Amino acid sequence: MPTLNQQFQSQGFLVLERFVPAKACDALMLWAEALTSDFDYKGHPSIFQTTDQSKSSDDYFLESGDQISFFFEKDAFDEKGELKQDLFHSLNKIGHALHDLDPMFASFSRSKEMRELAAELGLEDHVLIQSMMIFKHAKIGGKVDVHQDATFLYTEPQSCIGFWFALEDATIENGCMWAAAGGHKTSLRSRFQRKEGGGTEMQILDEQPYDINSMKPLEVPKGSCIVLHGLLPHYSLPNTSGKSRQAFAIHTIHRDAYYPESNWLRRERKSLKGFEQSAH
Ligand code: FE2
Repeated sequence: MPTLNQQFQSQGFLVLERFVPAKACDALMLWAEALTSDFDYKGHPSIFQTTDQSKSSDDYFLESGDQISFFFEKDAFDEKGELKQDLFHSLNKIGHALHDLDPMFASFSRSKEMRELAAELGLEDHVLIQSMMIFKHAKIGGKVDVHQDATFLYTEPQSCIGFWFALEDATIENGCMWAAAGGHKTSLRSRFQRKEGGGTEMQILDEQPYDINSMKPLEVPKGSCIVLHGLLPHYSLPNTSGKSRQAFAIHTIHRDAYYPESNWLRRERKSLKGFEQSAH
């Protein structure tokens, strides 16, 4: 039997079904919804869509690395700039420092099970750099184009590893993740970075297209954790179903890896903590 780490190294991802109890998923979703009620969107409108990178030059996005910030679905507003549905159902995600700033997300991110999993994968020297509550609401939840997470969290050497938690059943209909086993054994295609003088750009490192046809749906039940190698190409389709597909994602990097100043997400290096250290 290969170890978990061997499986991860050969596939580039791991599917751990029902890693988190359903009750913990429900509690996190309720908490996230409660957080949104404190958000005064009229003050800070921001739309996040990976398909439209020009929107990402928005300062609100660039300053969200060490904040709890709220991002809308692309189709959330009508022509008059009014929300087409209630605030909660208009949101695409919350990011990007929930794991350090919010006690509930901090304890979910640094559970005993997570410490044990990180140890099994040899990630004791990894620190948590980013977290996102992803709503993918019924009917409105948008697609996420094929990408590699290392594009957004670039380090030398490559060290980005993601942990994606299905807080609800993730199916083809509600926009589950798609990836190919072994897909991580490839080059990094691009780097999303800050431009000198403001804004962001996608720097192309390798023009080779992704092999999208080899990717398979990773349908998982509520509570499952999918561990993702930073070079693994993956994507998800829009949620056209009547059921939401909420997820929580954590990204880690090696504590000693070189992390360029030009990366979009900025954190004070010494504020980054591993799975073992609770922020609260
Ligand atoms: Fe991703």
